Amino acid sequence: MTKIIAIANQKGGVGKTTTAVNLASYLAYFGQETLLIDMDPQANTTSGFGIDKSSLKRSSYDVIINNSKIEDAIMPSGVDWLDIIPANRDLIGAEVELVNTISRETRLKKAFRNCPGNYRFILIDCPPSLGLLTLNSLTLANSVLIPIQAEFYPLEGLTELMNTVNLIREDLNPVLEIEGVLLTMYDTRLTLSSQVIKEIGKYFSDRVYQTIVPRNVRLAEAPSFGKPVIFYAPESKGAKAYQNLAREVLKGNGIELKEGPVGEKPKYPLAVQKETKKDLTITGK
Ligand SMILES: Nc1ncnc2c1ncn2[C@@H]1O[C@H](COP(=O)(O)OP(=O)(O)O)[C@@H](O)[C@H]1O
Ligand SMILES: [Mg+2]
Repeated sequence: MTKIIAIANQKGGVGKTTTAVNLASYLAYFGQETLLIDMDPQANTTSGFGIDKSSLKRSSYDVIINNSKIEDAIMPSGVDWLDIIPANRDLIGAEVELVNTISRETRLKKAFRNCPGNYRFILIDCPPSLGLLTLNSLTLANSVLIPIQAEFYPLEGLTELMNTVNLIREDLNPVLEIEGVLLTMYDTRLTLSSQVIKEIGKYFSDRVYQTIVPRNVRLAEAPSFGKPVIFYAPESKGAKAYQNLAREVLKGNGIELKEGPVGEKPKYPLAVQKETKKDLTITGK
């Protein structure tokens, strides 16, 4: 059974891409075969894995517009157990090209009728809008994970997002669930953030993850090295947060991780970055 999770919020800069890259990496680290789809024309997820956007043979654009086969667009991410369908700037045009297409909201879903492989999770990084690329993602998905920046007016725009989710449910995808709400870029020095946490708790109650992603410079630096944080700074607070988020997501999907005594190798396979296998030490703590 594959669980398809769209990571969406029409606000830019709330941590969608950071969450997509790092949650996907940690799901893979915990041995879950995962596919990450970059549906944002900015293609930050793609470059976050050090993939050269200018030399792609196929991309998510070809899947949604040119009926390319999924297997032709899939490429390795460099993280074991994690594949990616990359994006490039062609996707900017897709938003416009889709407008005059028949069943324009369901093209991605149709493309995935023949999804190869045995993915346990498929994550979709959505663009910062509620346009057709996001609608296609929400139509394909089983659930939506909403990152919210723990800042001044985080609830602003959420009504619009929830209205969209409800419209999709009525029309295109009745089973779409809220996977969870993730607070990101939490600054412990600001008391404002703790008020925000209370507000969001009132609005979403039990859908809010216990894990709160702190503001952590390592998370912001990692993409410029073309690496997810698991390989750039696995001991950082940001990495720990995304590892905990992955545990929560797994638990929420009925997957329990059994860990042996401290110091013993975990029973589940660990992800390793293919190019740098030798240097890498991941403790699995
Ligand atoms: N927890 C965090 N701490 C510090 N910087 C972060 C954190 N999460 C994201 N960032 C940085 O903030 C910017 C916006 O994040 P991003 O994930 O790209 O948001 P979105 O995809 O929603 O536009 C990026 O430069 C990213 O590196
Ligand atoms: Mg993004």
